[in-house]
This record gives sequence, structure tokens and C-alpha cells, in this order.
Amino acid sequence: MSINTRQGITPRGLKTRSLAGANAPAAIARHVRAVQRADLKAVIEMDAMVTGIEKRDYWNSLYQRYADAVATGRHFLVATEQDEVVGFVIGEVRDWEFGSPPCGWVFAIDVRPTARLGGTGTALLQAICQGFRQAGVSKVRTMLSRDNTLILSFFRSQGMMIGPFIPLEMDLEP
Ligand SMILES: CC(C)(COP(=O)(O)OP(=O)(O)OC[C@H]1O[C@@H](n2cnc3c(N)ncnc32)[C@H](O)[C@@H]1OP(=O)(O)O)[C@@H](O)C(=O)NCCC(=O)NCCS
Repeated sequence: MSINTRQGITPRGLKTRSLAGANAPAAIARHVRAVQRADLKAVIEMDAMVTGIEKRDYWNSLYQRYADAVATGRHFLVATEQDEVVGFVIGEVRDWEFGSPPCGWVFAIDVRPTARLGGTGTALLQAICQGFRQAGVSKVRTMLSRDNTLILSFFRSQGMMIGPFIPLEMDLEP
């Protein structure tokens, strides 16, 4: 899957931002495509920036499982601007988990701090949702930390609402 977007001039279905006017910044070409191995360095760096932990092995293993795996419902997409990776999104279609009919799950979405508030997160989410639609599902879900108001604001802005499930957890005794 590959989607070309341009801030202010977006294709059907993508959110459009008004950049008209004499002081409007120059339009930046944005491209959403499947991840490639050469993108991993930027993805690892971006994740470390957000979480404070560098997880090289985790990302390598995720890449092996999700790259080129669209046929199995798995998506690992990156957004680029002028060939620089500025964001990524990961998710997959899961069948009958928690008793639910097949639906798309978004596990992670990140946009480089310097590229935020320009529609990149929206473009990434819309691209992965398009992949889920093509896989035949009509629902998308995610899970987030209740302290992360930024990601909550983002998902709410995209139309996501509280779902029918509640997370439970407990400590395991050694
Ligand atoms: C959440 C995130 C992906 C949004 O990316 P983005 O490219 O800035 O998103 P967009 O520009 O498409 O913003 C879409 C909407 O989200 C909401 N939003 C985004 N950033 C926001 C902020 N800082 N405060 C409030 N609302 C915000 C707004 O409603 C915005 O629409 P608007 O600009 O028309 O008001 C990005 O901020 C990010 O990577 N944050 C860290 C993510 C994270 O914690 N990941 C770990 C868990 S998966």
C-alpha cells in the first residue's frame, strides 16, 4: 500500500488542512508506504525518543514478523517527508480475540516531534485503516495508557470512542 499526501492538498478521505494565504508554509510532500529494513534505524530512534528505552532486538523481531506480511493482515507502515522517516504505525487484523469478530488493532503510532501537528498521524492511521478495510474488517481498536492524554486526544480526534472491553491485570507471584 502506498499513499501520497501533500499537506493542504490531500487525496480523497484524508483530512485536509487549510494552508492557503500569503504566509502559508511551503507544502511538504508526505508519503505513506510499507516499512523497509533501511527505515528501522529511524523507527528505533523515534521510539526511544518517546519511550526513553532503545529496543533494537524488539524492533528487529517486529520487522521480521510484520514487513511484507500484509497478506496475513499485518501492517507496518512509515510516513516519509523528503525521504526522511517522520512517523510509523503498526497493527494487524486479529480473529476472534476476546470473543470479538475479526477486527483491526493498532499497536503503535509515533510521529517525530518536529513533524507533529501537520497531519502525519492522521495520514498513518487512515492508511492502516484502509489496509484493514481491504482485509475485510469494519472495526478498528487500540489500547492506550490512561496517562497518555496526547495519544488519547489524537485517537479521539480520529473518531475513536471507548470500546466494550476493559483491561485487567495482576502481578504474578514468583
Ligand atoms: C499522537 C501523535 C501520533 C499525533 O501525530 P500528529 O502527526 O501530530 O497528528 P495530526 O497532526 O494528524 O493530528 C490530528 C489531531 O490529533 C489531535 N492532536 C494531535 N496532537 C495534539 C496535541 N498535542 N494536543 C491535543 N490534540 C492533539 C488534534 O485533534 C489534531 O487535529 P488538529 O490539528 O486539527 O487539531 C503524535 O503526537 C505522537 O507520536 N505522540 C507520541 C505517541 C505515543 O505516545 N506513542 C506511544 C504509544 S503508541
